[in-house]
Amino acid sequence: MGDEVLEEGKFDPMFTEVEGSLSGKRIALFGSYGWGDGQWMRDWDDRCKAAGAVLATDSVIANDAPGDEEIKFCKALGAALA
Ligand SMILES: Cc1cc2nc3c(=O)[nH]c(=O)nc-3n(C[C@H](O)[C@H](O)[C@H](O)COP(=O)(O)O)c2cc1C
Repeated sequence: MGDEVLEEGKFDPMFTEVEGSLSGKRIALFGSYGWGDGQWMRDWDDRCKAAGAVLATDSVIANDAPGDEEIKFCKALGAALA
């Protein structure tokens, strides 16, 4: 709910709180958006890598609601983390 940024009201403050604990942790990112081309996800990827997190798989991004393809990617994301 900010153009090409993480939602500022609740999500970004929550993420900022845990950001310092991500070093060495395996994580995976997913999210949906309405407009833009997904710069928020590239920035979020970079932010997690800078915090030392290990991305278990490519981040999954869905324009609006996830379709069959995105659901398939989400399942693969879960499998990569498990
Ligand atoms: C109040 C409101 C603000 C939104 N702001 C943005 C935005 O800034 N950027 C964006 O990409 N999408 C925005 N959207 C669209 C949603 O992020 C997008 O449709 C998303 O897929 C909805 O996911 P959800 O069903 O999990 O909320 C907004 C939607 C609403 C209702």
